Amino acid sequence: MLTSSEIRSRFLAFFKERGHTIIPSASLVPQNDPSVLFNTAGMQPLVPYLLGQPHPGGARLANSQKCVRTVDIDEIGDNTHATFFEMLGNWSLGDYFKEDAIKWSYEFLTSKDKGLGLDPARLYITVFGGNADAPKDEESPAIWGAIFDKADVKGERIYFMTADAKGKEPNWWSAGDSGPCGPDTEMFYDVTGKLTNGMTKEEYMAADLRQDVVEIWNDVFMEYLKKDGKIVGKLPKQNVDTGSGLERVTMVVQGKDNIYETDLLGPMLKILLPEDTANLDNFIQQTLKKSARIVADHMRTAIFLIADGVIPSKSDQGYVLRRLIRRAVRHCELLGNRIPIVDLVESVEQTYKDAYPLNKEHIEQVIFEEEEKFRATLKQGMNKFEKTLNINVHSVIKVAGVVAAKISGKEVFDLYQTDGFPIEMTREIAEERGILIDEIGFEEELKKHRDLSRSGSEQKFKGGLADTSEKTVRLHTAHHLLLRALQIVLGPEVHQRGSNITQERLRIDFAAPRKVTDEEKKEVERIVNEKISEKLPVIRSEMSLEEAEKLGAEHEFGQKYPDRVSVYSVGPKDATPENPQFDKRFSIEFCGGPHVKNTGELSKFRILKEEAVAQGVRRIKAVLE
Ligand code: ALA
Repeated sequence: MLTSSEIRSRFLAFFKERGHTIIPSASLVPQNDPSVLFNTAGMQPLVPYLLGQPHPGGARLANSQKCVRTVDIDEIGDNTHATFFEMLGNWSLGDYFKEDAIKWSYEFLTSKDKGLGLDPARLYITVFGGNADAPKDEESPAIWGAIFDKADVKGERIYFMTADAKGKEPNWWSAGDSGPCGPDTEMFYDVTGKLTNGMTKEEYMAADLRQDVVEIWNDVFMEYLKKDGKIVGKLPKQNVDTGSGLERVTMVVQGKDNIYETDLLGPMLKILLPEDTANLDNFIQQTLKKSARIVADHMRTAIFLIADGVIPSKSDQGYVLRRLIRRAVRHCELLGNRIPIVDLVESVEQTYKDAYPLNKEHIEQVIFEEEEKFRATLKQGMNKFEKTLNINVHSVIKVAGVVAAKISGKEVFDLYQTDGFPIEMTREIAEERGILIDEIGFEEELKKHRDLSRSGSEQKFKGGLADTSEKTVRLHTAHHLLLRALQIVLGPEVHQRGSNITQERLRIDFAAPRKVTDEEKKEVERIVNEKISEKLPVIRSEMSLEEAEKLGAEHEFGQKYPDRVSVYSVGPKDATPENPQFDKRFSIEFCGGPHVKNTGELSKFRILKEEAVAQGVRRIKAVLE
C-alpha cells in the first residue's frame, strides 16, 4: 500500500516526466495580499502567472501546496474535511489544455506502476453544463468517453452539472469575486466499493449526498476573467489549474472511508484516543472520536501556521491560530487530558520530516506558551461561565415557542476579553448545553471596545485575489527597506519570520534577541527615509536559486524556493535591469513582487509600534504617511 509520502512523490515524478517544473509549496500566508488570510488553493500563489505574467519555471508547473480553509471549521470531525490540507496540482500556463490535462489525471489515478492504481470502474466524472456566461463543455465529456471506452469501462459515469437552486455552479471554479476562472471537470471515487458499476445522474447525486463518492481531483480550464463577480472576458491564454487533495487520495488509496485513519493523521489519533473504547456507549464513542479528530486537525494546522511565521494574537492569522490552539485544548480536556497538546508536535514533525522539515523547538515553544496561558484561564473562565448561567435564569426567553436561557452580549464579551474565550468557543459550549448567546449584543460590545479585529478576519475568509493596489505595493517596497535597515542597526542576524501588508500599514515579524530601543527605532526610520529620498531604482531579476543564495538575497525563515527564483534589488542609483549592479545594492530579497519602480514613489516612513510576539520574535508595524 502506498504511503502519503509516496503518493506525493509519485505525483511530482509523474508530472516532471511530462515536462513540468516542480515548484515548492508557497507559505500558507499569502505574501503581499491583504485580501486573504491564507492560501486556500494551489492556484492562489500562482494568480499573477495565470493572468499572464511569465513564470521563472516555464509554462508547465507542478507542486504540492499547503492550504488552510477555515470556512470548513464546523465540518471538522466528519470524514473528509480538514482545516489544513495539501493540494497536489499541475498547471499549464497557456500550454496544454483539456485533452492532456484529462488524459494525465486519469493516467495518474489509475496507473499501477506510476500512479495510484485506482479502479477505473469506481471513478465518476462531472462536467460543466453551461450557463449565460459560458457554453456547455462538450469537449471534456468526449475526452472522458474515449478514455473509458479504450479502458473498456462500461456504465454511465459522466454527468453534466448546472447551477443549483441558489445559483451556485458546481462545475465552475474561481478563487473569489475577481480573477481567473473557468469551467471544470471533477473526479469522484466510490469509497464504499459497493456501488453498482455505472449510475444514473439521480443515483450518482444521492451517492454524493451520502459521501459514498468523494471528490478526489478537479481539472479547471481557466480561460475567463472575472471582476467583482461578473465575467468580463477571456484571459490572454488558456490555462489549466488542477487540484487533488492529498488527504483524500491517500484515504482512497489506503482503503479508508475517512482522512483520520490515513498515515497523515492516524498517528495523532492513536495518541489521543483511549485504547479500548469498544465497551463504551455508542454516543460516548462518537463524541470522543469527534473531539480527537478536532484536536488532531487543529494541531496540525496550528503547527504548519507557526512554521510559516504566524504567532497567536488578537487579529488576522494570529487570531485564527489562537482559536485553533484554544479549541484543541478544550477538546483535549473533553478527552480527559491524556497529554498536553504540545506533545503532539513530535508526531506531526515525524509524519512530515521528509516533505516539510519543521522547526520543532520554535513550534513547541509557541504552543507551550499559548497552552499554558489558556489552561490557566480556562478553569477560571469555566467557573465564570457556570456562574453566568446560574445568574441568568432571569433572562430566560422564548424562542419559537421554546424556552431557552440566553447569555448577554456583555457576558460573552467579558469571557472573551478577560478569560480569553474566543466567541466561537463560547458559542460551542453554549450549544452543547442548549443555551443561546446574544450575538448582536456581543458585536455591539466589541465595537464599543474598538476591537474589530475578529470581524476583520471574518471578512477576509470570504476570499479574494491579489490586491495590488498602489498603497499595498508601496508598503511592500518599504518593507524591503525596513528589513535591510533593521539589519544595519541591529545586526546581520536579523531575519524575517513573517509579514503582512494591508492597505493601511505593513507588519514585519523578525528574529531578534531583545527589544529595539527608541534611538534604534529612530535610526531605522532615518535610514528608510534616506533611501526613499535617494530615489533608488527597484529592479526585478530572475536567476537560479544557487546564484540568489550566493548573492545573499534575503529569504524568509523556513521557506522553500524553486530552482529558478525572482529577486528584487533596491539601488544603487544608476542600476538598470540590464546591469543591476548587485554588489552595490542597498537590499536584495527573494520576492515575487510587485514593487514600485523607484523608492522616490514612497512617502514618509514611520514606525507605529514595536513589540514582542513570542520568545525571540519582535514585531514592527509601520506606515507611509
Ligand atoms: N483550483 C481548483 C480547486 O481548488 C483546482 O479545486
